[in-house]
Amino acid sequence: MRRPFIAGNWKMNLDRASAVALAEEVAKEAAGVEGVDLAVCPPSVYLDVVAAAVAGSKVALGAQNMYHQPNGAFTGEISAAMLCDIGCRYVILGHSERRHILGETDEDVNKKVLAALEARLTPIVCLGELLPEREAGRTMNVIRRQFNGSLAGVHAEQMARIVIAYEPVWAIGTGKVATPQQAEEVHLGLRKIIENRYNQEVAQSVRIQYGGSVKPENAADLLGQPNIDGALVGGASLKAESFMGIVAGLGL
Ligand code: PGA
Repeated sequence: MRRPFIAGNWKMNLDRASAVALAEEVAKEAAGVEGVDLAVCPPSVYLDVVAAAVAGSKVALGAQNMYHQPNGAFTGEISAAMLCDIGCRYVILGHSERRHILGETDEDVNKKVLAALEARLTPIVCLGELLPEREAGRTMNVIRRQFNGSLAGVHAEQMARIVIAYEPVWAIGTGKVATPQQAEEVHLGLRKIIENRYNQEVAQSVRIQYGGSVKPENAADLLGQPNIDGALVGGASLKAESFMGIVAGLGL
């Protein structure tokens, strides 16, 4: 069985003190929770202090982005090795805000995925359609294109380590959550895409998170779907109570 995985994407929010306080609170509340992987992904400048705040707890550390080159003259960028060095286990790659606001392409995401795997970081690769694409019935075409482009050249044993996050862009930060059926349909479709490219074993082992307006009130219905293995949580991850309320939706 796939172990559920809930991660908080703090985006460009909080300050140093509130990031540490939130991390400490989540770490404390996570102490009594079994059977789930948990992670928080703070802004890069707070990774180090949050690493210290969650050290020795059940909460792992993730970054929100990285650059594919190992080192060198890339002003403003951060490498996979640097993220490992300060204790990151995960890195979110290809988030829709990076694709649509910062202009990242599938090719950019692909280079980052390969570099993250090489460094033994676990990429959380985000895929998701825009509202007009959904309305035009093109959701699975978009997902297939992003999957093939972002995960080109990934071997079967690497694929089994990757986490996918299905995040319909129209549901991110909008309060408009996909229905459990809409999400499940895409998750199942994604698993078929993985099975076709690799095999059934790999397809069954990849964890696929749902993201987009997940809150304690809708978590149980979403997480109860057979192909939804966790959540990538934005807004509701900024308070320990709502983040842990989502974890409670797993009914563990
Ligand atoms: P949201 O963000 O939960 O605030 O909709 C999810 C995400 O962007 O990962």
